[in-house]
Amino acid sequence: MSAPGSKPIAEVDVSPSCCGPSSDTAAGRPNLVLLGRSLKFLRPHWRLQLVALALTAVVTVMWVANPWIQKLLVDDLREGSSIRVLGWLVLALVGSSLVRVLLSAVQKFVFAGIRERVLLDLRSSLVDALLRKEILSMKKRNPGEVISVFLQDVETMGSLYGDTIVQLVTQSFLFVAVVILMVTLDRTLAVLTLGALMAFAISVKDITRPIQRVSRELQDALADASTAVGEYWKSMAETRLLGAEAFVHEMVSGALDLLRRARLRFAKVVSTVSLCDGMTWVIAGGLIWYGGQKVIAGQMTLGGLLAFWNYMGLSLAPINTFLMFGGTVRSSLGAAARVFELADAGEDEGRGDRGALDFPSRLHSISCRGVRFGYETDRTVLAELDLELRPGERLGLVGASGSGKSTLASLMTRLLENCGGEILLNGKPLRQYRLSSLRAGLGVVQQKPHIFTATVEENILLGRPWASPDEIVLAASRAHALEFIDELPEGMKTRIGEGLRQLSGGQEQRLAMARLFLKNPRMVILDESLSAVDCATADLIMDELYSYFSGRPVIVISHHPSMLKGVDRILALQDGSLRQITLGEAALLAGSRV
Ligand SMILES: Nc1ncnc2c1ncn2[C@@H]1O[C@H](COP(=O)(O)OP(=O)(O)OP(=O)(O)O)[C@@H](O)[C@H]1O
Ligand SMILES: [Mg+2]
Repeated sequence: MSAPGSKPIAEVDVSPSCCGPSSDTAAGRPNLVLLGRSLKFLRPHWRLQLVALALTAVVTVMWVANPWIQKLLVDDLREGSSIRVLGWLVLALVGSSLVRVLLSAVQKFVFAGIRERVLLDLRSSLVDALLRKEILSMKKRNPGEVISVFLQDVETMGSLYGDTIVQLVTQSFLFVAVVILMVTLDRTLAVLTLGALMAFAISVKDITRPIQRVSRELQDALADASTAVGEYWKSMAETRLLGAEAFVHEMVSGALDLLRRARLRFAKVVSTVSLCDGMTWVIAGGLIWYGGQKVIAGQMTLGGLLAFWNYMGLSLAPINTFLMFGGTVRSSLGAAARVFELADAGEDEGRGDRGALDFPSRLHSISCRGVRFGYETDRTVLAELDLELRPGERLGLVGASGSGKSTLASLMTRLLENCGGEILLNGKPLRQYRLSSLRAGLGVVQQKPHIFTATVEENILLGRPWASPDEIVLAASRAHALEFIDELPEGMKTRIGEGLRQLSGGQEQRLAMARLFLKNPRMVILDESLSAVDCATADLIMDELYSYFSGRPVIVISHHPSMLKGVDRILALQDGSLRQITLGEAALLAGSRV
């Protein structure tokens, strides 16, 4: 129970999403800068904010008017009072309460609307920012942490966009109005009550402080648990095949147990805080004891005491808001620091590029000169690598696992940057080409292509979104994918992907090849792209590919000598550099004969 008219002073906003670390600076940013950056997202919604502010002002007036009407009612109600006055007062009480309730509902909805719009803008801008980043820095991130930032931290920032700031303004008005009315009713009682409330509120503030720390721990535990559950789900087949159920059980239940402990710590702090609520009743008791004596002595009316008690209840909300404001804002800024840290992490792709060249319509040379690259400073993957690719040449690239073949392909597509030496297209460094044009000109098919949760048709269309249905079918037929697509329940319109109909590894690879045919790039890199397709079908697809991309350079990275039958030249990558070998040597290297 709490004093009437308001939420208790100790009823702080303790949802896990409302709190965060209490550091004055997060990730080294001054809070004001973070606040400014966070509030910029409110700017496009200023009209709605004005509506919310107006609604809050009206609701506040209604709140203040209510106890006064109650006072008039109680003081006027005695034997022989006017029925008409009673009617008007009841009408005013009921009417103002109904209007307040109705407007409060609208006000909450408007605040929720502002908050949700801003959070959507924030999340969308985060999606865009991360799509522009260099892939290497993104890969270092733990997926659970990224999900936690997207869902929980952005949610925590929501208190900056909901009613927190507007509340501060309106609660200030409410507080001033309530204090004036309390002083009008009884000056001594006002000073005593407000003094006691303030002293109590300041002591409660320290009790609520650990909430920020335990809620941060809870968020971290949630992120770890979501990573563990995600891993558990993805590794279903592998777990069974390896008989690793005990290991996985241990991993998931360990993370869930940490989550349980974090939740318990959180619940403990929250329940300690809720104990403080009882204190407001001690103050209310003192008020009634002192005020009651004044009523008995005829120095105060009963309605006046009732109104005073109500105003005391109303004053709890502003005091609560003032005390919690700093904590709530700090929590939101802690979350904002993590959101912006992710948005600013790593470098943007193609930063500092001045190149505006389009991918050449005719490629007459592709060369790597002294290319050096390592993921870590102390380990070189490619060392002084040289390569000359002639126009229309089909090049086979072999090498032991981990020798750097995919790394070379990623450097050519600029998924990886910062290599030593130079990679040149028609004699011009890759950096001089527009990144989007470079990626449009190159067609890369990887060993494990990503299949999106969409229809088969939509998946192929990613190759060229404006292609016609006939072109899609033709591309699928070139990739020998039509055979299995036609057998799907809804053919091209069948939805595939996570949690839906699953394709086999070879079918996924053929779908990726269909994307490539539809894209029709000027240069092709196949990175083990048919490794899961049977040899006969892979041969047919390669024949189709060579005839379709005739005159355009094709690099075939493969461990399978059969995939290298149609190439003009085979290079082996060893110790970071290339040397030419024959098909027979490639077969020997792969430990088999063609
Ligand atoms: N993101 C990364 N961070 C750090 N090291 C990496 C990363 N990606 C690859 N490596 C390392 O770089 C080396 C070359 O990897 P790469 O994937 O290019 O080999 P590969 O020749 O394509 O091997 P495979 O034939 O198995 O596909 C490996 O030792 C690998 O462990
Ligand atoms: Mg590879």
